Amino acid sequence: MIEPQVATHVTMDEITALAKRRGFIFPSSEIYGGINGFWDYGPLGALLKRNVKDAWWRQNVDLRDDVVAFDSSIIMHPETWVASGHVAAFHDKLVDCRHCKHRFRADHLQSLDQCPDCGMRGSLTEPRNFNLMMKTSVGPMEDSAALAYLRPETAQGMFVNFKNIYQTARKKPPFGIAQIGKSFRNEITPGNFTFRIREFEQAELEYFVAPDGNDMECYEEWVRARKQWYSDYGIKESRLRFYELKPEERPHYAKAGTDVEYLFPWGWGELESIAHRGTYDLDAHMKLSGKDLTYYDEAAKTKYTPILIESSAGMDRTALTMLIDAYEKEKTVDPNGKETERVVLRFHPRIAPIKVAVFSLARNKPDLVERAHIIEHALRPFFRSQYDEGNIGQLYRRQDEIGTPFCVTVDYDTLEDGAVTVRERDSMEQARVSADQLAGYLADRL
Ligand code: GAP
Repeated sequence: MIEPQVATHVTMDEITALAKRRGFIFPSSEIYGGINGFWDYGPLGALLKRNVKDAWWRQNVDLRDDVVAFDSSIIMHPETWVASGHVAAFHDKLVDCRHCKHRFRADHLQSLDQCPDCGMRGSLTEPRNFNLMMKTSVGPMEDSAALAYLRPETAQGMFVNFKNIYQTARKKPPFGIAQIGKSFRNEITPGNFTFRIREFEQAELEYFVAPDGNDMECYEEWVRARKQWYSDYGIKESRLRFYELKPEERPHYAKAGTDVEYLFPWGWGELESIAHRGTYDLDAHMKLSGKDLTYYDEAAKTKYTPILIESSAGMDRTALTMLIDAYEKEKTVDPNGKETERVVLRFHPRIAPIKVAVFSLARNKPDLVERAHIIEHALRPFFRSQYDEGNIGQLYRRQDEIGTPFCVTVDYDTLEDGAVTVRERDSMEQARVSADQLAGYLADRL
């Protein structure tokens, strides 16, 4: 079978327009013209990203007794990045066009002969190394002694704290440490909306195992667990692949690696990397700091350096994936019997920013408006809900476009019989449900 090269059910223009129109994602500091590689999450985007992070946290922390939570600082001692190898080797090769002044990543160019933007031959400079770590200075002096970096990954905070954590949490390998937090990379060519950005969030899990021969099994178990997660949250199997890295594609110390990739409208892109990193990271910090980060096994009276299995996922990329994957355009018939097209985000209920919208059929009927408000308030402790009023067709359209699984309409009959109309997003089927039983009805279906 020939693999598809791009996802064709939606274009990036449609996604970015919807994200802006409905308040998912805006360019950062837009009133000043924006800043390349930085984005802000609007009211719905903030909820979407939080739900993605909560879903990750649920699988990797809440439902496990062998993983502990962690939250380290963004700025760490600069030596951290010497030990990790980022100071020496976290580079991209950069090429400038002397003619149009555009800048490219050398590995994104097909040839170094001709500028892909202005077409000028022989105008490109030789590739130069460019370190991707963002620099800042700590304290009132801006000299080299104050130099610090914004972390390019959250992982190192967990490595340098390995001993603090296992001793205080009283954990013995196999066990893991999980963290979600901001990371920064001075990407040369940010792009594809929120896919490649300069400030982003990572969800990383560092799982430490004893060198007792079960490390590959454990790695494979994590690959399976992460596969299950994407499937549980409804990502289409046909647009997801788990690419096993060949030995020449892995760092020299890594025994195995898998990239989780999604088929975006521009082609395959990485969402997450899962790696068997051996003892490389703890060894590197022990060597530079001179501090012991081995594990002492009281029972066996032996000490060893645990082997690390890492899963590192980008939360912005995953949120973008959820948005793209959920997007569908379909022909339908509106309440007046007219054929029309609807855009619907078929989010998994846990991912949907709003779970239920409650409408008053009419704006100018105080009885209906009041009743709808009372019903919406009663749902609030259980589900993220929203009140709206007006033309039902337009209200459905808006909620479909933001992926709300259920809409509840309060109409004139409600005042008589205490029942409301519940409409389900995907099937558009409607049911009459007693307002008293609404929360239970929705809970069963969400
Ligand atoms: N600690 C391992 C690590 O950081 P990585 O493959 O460099 O591994 C992990 O990054 C994930 O972080 C990526 O798969 C991606 O989802 C996300 N990520 C990395 N750079 C990013 C960027 N510039 N913009 C958005 N997400 C990024």
